[in-house]
Amino acid sequence: MTTPTDNTVGKGHIQKKFGGKFVVITGASSGIGRQVAIDFAMSGASKIIIISRTEPKLIELQRMIEQTISDDSGITKGLDIIPYVCDVSRRQEVIAMGRDLLQKLGRIDILVNNAGFGTFGYVGGQEIEEIEGIMHTNYFGMVYCTKVFLNSMLSRRTGHIVNVASVAASFGVAGMAAYCASKYAMLGFSESLLHELHGTGVRITVVSPIGVKTNFFNNKTFLDRRPNYTGLMLSPKTVSRAIISASCSPRFEIVVPFYIRAAIWLKYTLPYLVNPLVGTLFRRQLNG
Ligand SMILES: NC(=O)c1ccc[n+]([C@@H]2O[C@H](COP(=O)([O-])OP(=O)(O)OC[C@H]3O[C@@H](n4cnc5c(N)ncnc54)[C@H](OP(=O)(O)O)[C@@H]3O)[C@@H](O)[C@H]2O)c1
Repeated sequence: MTTPTDNTVGKGHIQKKFGGKFVVITGASSGIGRQVAIDFAMSGASKIIIISRTEPKLIELQRMIEQTISDDSGITKGLDIIPYVCDVSRRQEVIAMGRDLLQKLGRIDILVNNAGFGTFGYVGGQEIEEIEGIMHTNYFGMVYCTKVFLNSMLSRRTGHIVNVASVAASFGVAGMAAYCASKYAMLGFSESLLHELHGTGVRITVVSPIGVKTNFFNNKTFLDRRPNYTGLMLSPKTVSRAIISASCSPRFEIVVPFYIRAAIWLKYTLPYLVNPLVGTLFRRQLNG
């Protein structure tokens, strides 16, 4: 099983860009979310709630960050890493998590909706539960988490929601219908919310990366189609950097790398040219 370990943490100077901020990150046990937790810690955030379903991984991350940031006496100054086990696809679990955190901490400044997964295969060969499962985590998980923190952000007239979508929110590709649908849904929901939030002091930004070197492709449905981590694939660090900038940016969507935005523009401008190309490319991969 491929286990990319690109997560890095510098021992250097801690910036105070997010000094005093309370940050919630879903899907923090691995890949992009793990790196985002490290980078918020290095940017001066004071409470970082790291969420996933796997407690040991969250605790390992908490220890790693605390060891890195603590001074010589072992004191972690002004930083509290809080592991929180929650399955974001389960509405009641998310409601309980949100209530608990708001009661204990009083507020959340930044919510990073990052938890997600994808599978690979023909729609015709997939069980309906597999398709529903992707939607429940990637789309409804984001909706549930947004709902539990939104009103508190609105009442304080401040807060930032960062939704980790994908370039798959702009290109439907063969073999990933359910995944693309979940990311299109995330983008549509976020765009509507952007307009509703106008003038409220609360912001929303979507980060849409291309392929990233994480455990994402270890899902058994990718089998031998797992990409080799070379060429165009991004590091979690690159995407994390975009997420950190997104959380204090007025922009709606940040595509990573930025030049892929040209491909998205081309697809919507000349779909009859671009769609057949995308179709051929991904069908070839699906048909093996
Ligand atoms: N890798 C890529 O090529 C790529 C490209 C574009 C966008 N993205 C998006 O980036 C996000 C992060 O993915 P990644 O690449 O970092 O993959 P990853 O390494 O597999 O990490 C996925 C994270 O999501 C968590 N998660 C999954 N289901 C969950 C659930 N029901 N409740 C709570 N946490 C859950 C996992 O934790 P547990 O298993 O411990 O719960 C894990 O921490 C996803 O939304 C993905 O769609 C990835």
